[in-house]
Amino acid sequence: GDVRSTNITAVEHRVTPDMRARSNGHEGGILWLTGLSGAGKSTLAIEAEQQLFAKGYQVYVLDGDNVRFGLSSDLGFAPEDRAENIRRVGEVAKLFASAGVLVLTAFISPYRADRDRARSIAPDLFHEVYVAADVSTCEGRDPKGLYKKARAGEIKDFTGVSAPYEEPVTPELTVDTSDKTVNESVAELLAYVEENFSLT
Ligand code: PPS
Repeated sequence: GDVRSTNITAVEHRVTPDMRARSNGHEGGILWLTGLSGAGKSTLAIEAEQQLFAKGYQVYVLDGDNVRFGLSSDLGFAPEDRAENIRRVGEVAKLFASAGVLVLTAFISPYRADRDRARSIAPDLFHEVYVAADVSTCEGRDPKGLYKKARAGEIKDFTGVSAPYEEPVTPELTVDTSDKTVNESVAELLAYVEENFSLT
C-alpha cells in the first residue's frame, strides 16, 4: 500500500534471520489459515500451537476474535474493514516471523485479493493453508450460534450466508476438516510444518 509518511529510513538489524534460526532451531514463518466460520481454524491453530511448542518450536497463534478485541477493535465486517484487518494481520505476522517465530494465523480472510496482499507483504515466509469445510458442515457445527443468528437476519454480512467466501486456488496445504477428527486434521498440519520447518 501507500506509505504516507515522509522522511523515514529503514533501520538495519545486526541480528540476522540466520542467527535467529540457528538460535531457535528453525526458521520463522507464517501459516495463514483461511476458511469459513466453524471450519476449525482456531481449533487447529491452538492444538498445533500446543503440540509444536512441546516439540520445541517458537510458535504463536494470531486469532481473528482476539485481534478484533485489540488491534482491529475499530473494524467491522464490511469488505473494506476485512481488507484492513487482513492487511494489519499480514504486517504483524511478518514482524513475528522476522523475529524468528512460527506464526499461525486464524482469520476467515474470505477475499482472495486480501490474502494475496498478505502474501505479498512477506512472500518468502507465507504458506496458505485452506481449512476446508462446506457451509452446511460449518452450519451443522455452529459452535457460537452465529449461523443461526445470520439466518435469522440478526448478523449482516455473515460469511457463507450473506457475504462471500472465495476459496483458495493454489494453497500450499488443504486440510479438509469435514471428514476427519480434530486429531487427524492437526496431524496433517503438523506433518506439513515438520517438513517445511525442520528442527535442527
Ligand atoms: S475476517 O473476514 O478475516 O476479517 O474475519 P475474522 O477477523 O477472522 O473474524 C471472524 C470472527 O468474527 C465473528 N463474526 C463474523 N464472522 C464473519 N462474518 C460476520 N459478519 C461476523 N460477525 C462476527 C466470528 O466469531 C468469526 O470467528 P470464527 O472463529 O471464524 O468463527
